[in-house]
Amino acid sequence: MDVILRAEGVEFFYGEQRALCGVDFALARGEVAAITGSSGSGKSSLLYCLAGVLPPAGGSVVFDGITLSSLPDAELSALRRERIGFVFQYGELLAELTAEENAALPLRLAGVPKDRAHAAGARVLGRLGMGDFLRRRASGLSGGQAQRVAVARALVHQPDVVFADEPTGALDSANSSAVLEEFLVLARSQQTAVVIVTHDPGVAARADTRYTMTDGAITQRVAV
Ligand SMILES: Nc1ncnc2c1ncn2[C@@H]1O[C@H](COP(=O)(O)OP(=O)(O)O)[C@@H](O)[C@H]1O
Ligand SMILES: [Mg+2]
Repeated sequence: MDVILRAEGVEFFYGEQRALCGVDFALARGEVAAITGSSGSGKSSLLYCLAGVLPPAGGSVVFDGITLSSLPDAELSALRRERIGFVFQYGELLAELTAEENAALPLRLAGVPKDRAHAAGARVLGRLGMGDFLRRRASGLSGGQAQRVAVARALVHQPDVVFADEPTGALDSANSSAVLEEFLVLARSQQTAVVIVTHDPGVAARADTRYTMTDGAITQRVAV
């Protein structure tokens, strides 16, 4: 397997509260992994550790051969910006920017000229059925539309891995399944690996690998 991300023995604490107790995890290029588990089982904490957002208290996270904890802050930020995408539970768009500007942000931050970045943002938004809303400010979008923009923003720079933490928290179930379907199709078409925390059985069923977390540990792994 062509591993893009490998974690071993990852531990994390919030003060005295143990959130992760020795998690092992491996992800291949282009793989889609779904994580389920009850509230408080450590899903978000694991995602943040894997994405280099939180530093584990123990164990290691290796991204394409690079041990994240060995990187200076600036290099870790650059790696996250350029090679990782993140879809947050409630989208977290910049309200005053248009859909296209929001989707283009990772490219703009990487120094891509405005025209090219916006064209790439528009292309991904078009594939997500948002072609008619490119110039609409994020503050004027519905929940489902905003979620599509958040998905476009996470994929626009063709990252190696996208993390999505219950990315349809703001949507009804029909809408959320549709957005997630498109997300997975788009990710697969550009060989982006995906780690998605989801309660949606339909989405989990589309994954190559399904994990269940219980009390800070992975207690089940099913590979299709
Ligand atoms: N900011 C925080 N401060 C203190 N404890 C936290 C914080 N965030 C999460 N926890 C605790 O860490 C554990 C794992 O939480 P989390 O990773 O958010 O789980 P999940 O995403 O599965 O709901 C839980 O016991 C939770 O209460
Ligand atoms: Mg969570």
